[in-house]
Amino acid sequence: MEVVRTVQDLRERLAREPDVACVPTMGNIHEGHLGLVGLARANARCVVTTIFVNRLQFNQASDFDRYPRTFDDDCAKLAVAGNDIVFHPDEAEMYPQPQVFAVDPPPIALKLEGRFRPGHFRGMATVVLKLFNIVQPQYAVFGKKDYQQLHLVRDLVAQFALPVRIIEAETRRADDGLALSSRNRFLSATERAEAPRLKRVLDDVRAAVESGDRNFTALEFAADAMLARHGWQVDYVVVRSRRTLATPEPDERDLVVLGAATLGAVRLIDNLEILAP
Ligand code: PAF
Repeated sequence: MEVVRTVQDLRERLAREPDVACVPTMGNIHEGHLGLVGLARANARCVVTTIFVNRLQFNQASDFDRYPRTFDDDCAKLAVAGNDIVFHPDEAEMYPQPQVFAVDPPPIALKLEGRFRPGHFRGMATVVLKLFNIVQPQYAVFGKKDYQQLHLVRDLVAQFALPVRIIEAETRRADDGLALSSRNRFLSATERAEAPRLKRVLDDVRAAVESGDRNFTALEFAADAMLARHGWQVDYVVVRSRRTLATPEPDERDLVVLGAATLGAVRLIDNLEILAP
């Protein structure tokens, strides 16, 4: 596996590749990321994983500073997973001048995660567009765990007519259901034991909707109350349209329940797709 640190070196290296699949990450690679690499591997002859902790998408400098940077460990895992190239630019390479041009995302970017992380999706979309321009992949793999991110990336690609096909990966989970995330490492043992409750309350909402209950407000309220009773600080548990991420139309069947809540000092997100009857 090769590590490439500059845009020019990457362009030269990729010039001889007929098809490339890109897996954009901020590092701290776990099984979830390796699943994305596996999907990339199945679709293209060359897999490029990017590792870049993107300052633009952090609304708090302290979060950016404490984001785990585990480059050597990441490379060891990626090599075993069959990744071909790690693109690992530093900030001066990605942002040689202050990034004054930015992607202005649509209003849905201000809802859900965007409401609690102002500027996050603007920074995310800007770096993803830039990474796509640098890597010029035919495919890019994103996980459903960051459901709103995936939604916005799909729209970004469609609206800017980018020649890249987005491949969606299912969320990888621990045996007890907890979605894999770089943040899980910050959970204490007691919090780790409690953490799977987020998925369980989403399961309950899904089961109710799939059995015909469309009183979303009541279901959301019950889910919220259940988490709060067990010490979570809930940002949202909401049922949304999969297509728009807005409140579902009365006859809409392709839904998703999304949740975000903090346990101790660790904010977790999760979601489950729902097919209403
Ligand atoms: O999902 C992430 O790790 C980041 O948001 C991404 C897509 C790599 C952009 O920095």
